[in-house]
Amino acid sequence: DSTLRTLAAARGLRIGSAVSAGALAQEQGYRDKLRYEFNGVTPENAMKWSQVEPAQGQYTWGDADAIVDFAQQNGQTVRGHALVWHNSLPDWLTGGGFTDEQLRASLKQHIETMMTRYAGRVGVWDVVNEAFNEDGTLRPSIWLNRLGSGYIADAFRWARAADPAAKLYINDFNAEWANPKSDALYALVRDLRAQGVPIDGVGFQTHVTTGSALSQLGATLARFAGLGVDVAVTELDVRMPLPADDAKLTTQATVYRRAVDACLAVARCVSLTVWGFTDAHSWVPAAIPGWGAADLLGENLQPKPAYLSVRDAL
Ligand code: XIL
Repeated sequence: DSTLRTLAAARGLRIGSAVSAGALAQEQGYRDKLRYEFNGVTPENAMKWSQVEPAQGQYTWGDADAIVDFAQQNGQTVRGHALVWHNSLPDWLTGGGFTDEQLRASLKQHIETMMTRYAGRVGVWDVVNEAFNEDGTLRPSIWLNRLGSGYIADAFRWARAADPAAKLYINDFNAEWANPKSDALYALVRDLRAQGVPIDGVGFQTHVTTGSALSQLGATLARFAGLGVDVAVTELDVRMPLPADDAKLTTQATVYRRAVDACLAVARCVSLTVWGFTDAHSWVPAAIPGWGAADLLGENLQPKPAYLSVRDAL
């Protein structure tokens, strides 16, 4: 029988979803869809620094381990997410009164701890996430402010040393079309590669709305692939103003389809990951009030038009 997973595999594409550790632990229906429809998983939150090390030196691996174990049992590739980010940092780190050198050592140790633990089980890592502002300047963060812009190259070098087999990505949003941020990301990746910094891929989050045509996604993926890196759609969802109706659901289906077509058209687009597969567990309604119904399946795991259009595209 044809699932997204079997169809994608036949096209040489990995299709993944973000995974909620809570739903995975509690819902058989969620587990079944995840295993049948996807051959990739990204822990939605379970590998974020504040989750794995809520108190300094005290690690809580349960949720991350459960997702990795599930993936192994089901032949799925794990995208580790996200080693260096301005968000989801533990309070002990941000408020700890550390010196710049101590912060640098903490970041290096964090990368080493995560990648060593999951070496051989997490094949791909988002090493640096959301480094840019919309105007293309680097985003102020504890990392930029305290370590300087070299933190990005350092993070990739530390990551390569920690697990030489893992694919290392930089990941961002609003770089899917031509704009200053996309240009800055392009220039950074080009320069890092020229300097021999180990970066293997660029992830495009692709959190969009039913108003997005995504008409430039294919060209953007191709442009970045021209740098000699892999590219991936890493966090796709297509939100709509609530309540959903048939017209919005139909439009949503065309946007999802365009994302799949864009990735399929670019040889180096190796994977497409949705940021959750059911509206029952989407991050959108809480994060963006008034918006939702962003995922492929409905609240009761029923296929929406978007699911059918993705299946057709594959
Ligand atoms: C989001 C999760 O989906 C939420 O559950 C959490 O509360 C906040 O983070 N870009 C990213 C993801 O790289 O890590 C974010 O995930 C969504 C935006």
